[in-house]
Amino acid sequence: MILVTTAGKVGSEAVRLLAERQMPVRVLVRNPAKAKALADAGAHVVVGDLEVPASIDAAMAGVTAVVLVSPAVPAQELNVVASAARAGVRHIVKATSKASPDSPIARRRGQSEIEAGLAASGVPHTLLRSNAYMQNVLAWAPEIAKTSGFGSAVGKGRTGMVDARDVAAVAAEIAATPAAHANKTYWLSGPQSISNDDVAAVLSRLLARTITYRELSFEENKDGMIRAGVPEPIAHMNAQALSLTAEGDAEWVTQDVPTLLGRQAPSFEQFAADYAASFA
Ligand SMILES: NC(=O)c1ccc[n+]([C@@H]2O[C@H](COP(=O)([O-])OP(=O)(O)OC[C@H]3O[C@@H](n4cnc5c(N)ncnc54)[C@H](OP(=O)(O)O)[C@@H]3O)[C@@H](O)[C@H]2O)c1
Repeated sequence: MILVTTAGKVGSEAVRLLAERQMPVRVLVRNPAKAKALADAGAHVVVGDLEVPASIDAAMAGVTAVVLVSPAVPAQELNVVASAARAGVRHIVKATSKASPDSPIARRRGQSEIEAGLAASGVPHTLLRSNAYMQNVLAWAPEIAKTSGFGSAVGKGRTGMVDARDVAAVAAEIAATPAAHANKTYWLSGPQSISNDDVAAVLSRLLARTITYRELSFEENKDGMIRAGVPEPIAHMNAQALSLTAEGDAEWVTQDVPTLLGRQAPSFEQFAADYAASFA
């Protein structure tokens, strides 16, 4: 049995792919109503909360591999690691980012703390260090629909954006066949490093009207996210990451997705076409 925590962007797609492969798969969610499609696809949906170790232990029964993906609050993910170690789980695939103990971004320091706990647990594991997800662009869809534009603090910075569906496909592949991936780290990106002017050009072609990118300051970007409903600490960390992108922090591309999946990673054009209805 493979356990996936949780059913967000990466988790739900990993569950769907594992169910499609006829692998026994369980998904831990807080609200089962949101996971009905996964239950219909054949997954075993269990109700739990990463804050509550007993609920994780209940979900861990009979599990051989875990896909660990969540908002990456250290205490919560370390609860999963401890539960997996107690249950004798043989492999953990962890979704992570550019983790570092001295990063200016608290989320990256938290990821580093989780990774250290994972290493100390002795459970064989694989780290998926992903570049920014293409799906982040969907957060601009309401603004694009209203103003034919979007803004960000990335300036002219470029990002090797990866489709979250590919992160899920890699996680599912490794959870299903973990042997060759023990204690390895993969850097997942899309096929190209692109700027927000490139994003605007792709969306202009897709929507057949001009979509304009506006460069924002750190404060303007952070305040805009807060107005859109993002909690202040998350908006702060997002704006920090975007400001680092302006300095070249996300301008990396690897061949790990094609190497691991045996096919090309989709371009941003392909992603945008797949999600055309969300931008319309
Ligand atoms: N976004 C990016 O660009 C990016 C890039 C690189 C790495 N990453 C990493 O990817 C991971 C996030 O993955 P994602 O984007 O797939 O996540 P996501 O879409 O934000 O989904 C997070 C899920 O976690 C659930 N959740 C939150 N708190 C929970 C709790 N206490 N107990 C149980 N479930 C809980 C949420 O469920 P509810 O519906 O109940 O709220 C939601 O389904 C993080 O480690 C992040 O650092 C993200």
